[in-house]
Amino acid sequence: MDTIGIGLIGTGFMGKCHALAFNAVKATFGDVPCPRLEMLCDLEPARPAAKAAEFGFARWTTEWAAIVADPKIDLVSIATPNATHREIAVAALAAGKHVYCEKPMGLTLADAEAMAEAAGAAKRRTRLGYNYTVNPAVQHARRLIAEGAIGRVIDVRGAFDEDYMADPALPWSWRCRVAEAGLGVLGDLMCHLVALARLLVGPIASVLAAVETAHRARPVADRPGETNPVDNEDVAHALVRFGSGATGALAASRVAHGRKNGLRVEVHGSKGMIVFDQERLNELQIFIADGEPATRGFRSLLTGPLHPPYGTLCPAPGHSLGFNDLKVIEVAEFLNAIASGGPNAFDFAEGLAVERVIHGFIRSANERRWIDVG
Ligand SMILES: NC(=O)c1ccc[n+]([C@@H]2O[C@H](COP(=O)([O-])OP(=O)(O)OC[C@H]3O[C@@H](n4cnc5c(N)ncnc54)[C@H](O)[C@@H]3O)[C@@H](O)[C@H]2O)c1
Repeated sequence: MDTIGIGLIGTGFMGKCHALAFNAVKATFGDVPCPRLEMLCDLEPARPAAKAAEFGFARWTTEWAAIVADPKIDLVSIATPNATHREIAVAALAAGKHVYCEKPMGLTLADAEAMAEAAGAAKRRTRLGYNYTVNPAVQHARRLIAEGAIGRVIDVRGAFDEDYMADPALPWSWRCRVAEAGLGVLGDLMCHLVALARLLVGPIASVLAAVETAHRARPVADRPGETNPVDNEDVAHALVRFGSGATGALAASRVAHGRKNGLRVEVHGSKGMIVFDQERLNELQIFIADGEPATRGFRSLLTGPLHPPYGTLCPAPGHSLGFNDLKVIEVAEFLNAIASGGPNAFDFAEGLAVERVIHGFIRSANERRWIDVG
């Protein structure tokens, strides 16, 4: 497979990210099928023509069904709001396309189950946008933990905090409504934290959670004095028990003033600890409990070509990768999986496991009890 036809749906934050990755992946990785940017779609009439020109797509449409039906398109990229994911993904799989979809999978656990079932039946490759898991620093942490560098994993502390809805005066948007967004911070941020925890420590077996909506109404844009209710959660806290027996405490907030991309994970082991912080995404903090006690301490490890695939993106250590580079790595992995038929991380089956955990959190919070999710 020398080339692969791409159809991209959605041209906002993630749509641009996908487009940048498809444009960069061949030049960066070399040994991947070359994306042919066939068609781009956005619902907003003003956007697709301009974005097709900017992103380098040959054709554009305002109807996503045109992308799904197009014979020149092999892979459909879904970068639209959560409420559209299930319908587009299931239709694309039925039309014989590979599907690259942003997280969360849909609005409900039933959506995620239907998508995973459609993927299984279609025998096409799928990939979800769990971009933080492909970071060379995170992958190095995964290898260290698997090799026993910090001993037996005992406990995990994790948080994913941002402040994109911290201002109570921020206007109401689709993200505030269950019917359009599904979960609140659980679907936006917590799912990434769960994906990282699963990658580093393994499957989560049971959960106990509490959630809160900090700002229960928000002003309606352009309608002074009017507000709309916020009916999903701003903040979530969860205790988790991993299948291995390790414990964990995970938290997420979309109203945390000052946090911009505050995805932090500490893995506590019997011989040491590893800490990752996405706001310093090229680093790990590592503490190993050996040597002279008086000189022990955390050391900072700065990633470089010794931490693949960092060197494929940049030959110089410590020069740093960024958020958009993670998307290039994600796309390269997916194109290679399609071309080779080989291993494929974070497909819809893996995504369903994450969805079981985040929907387990909301069920646990509503029913005020531990829930088995494994
Ligand atoms: N992986 C990540 O790190 C990450 C980060 C942010 C958002 N996301 C996910 O990406 C998805 C999109 O979020 P975003 O921040 O890019 O949103 P956005 O609002 O910036 O962009 C969404 C775009 O989709 C278009 N759109 C809406 N409905 C459509 C339809 N039916 N057909 C065609 N186009 C349609 C909108 O006009 C808009 O241009 C969400 O599911 C979100 O959870 C993932």
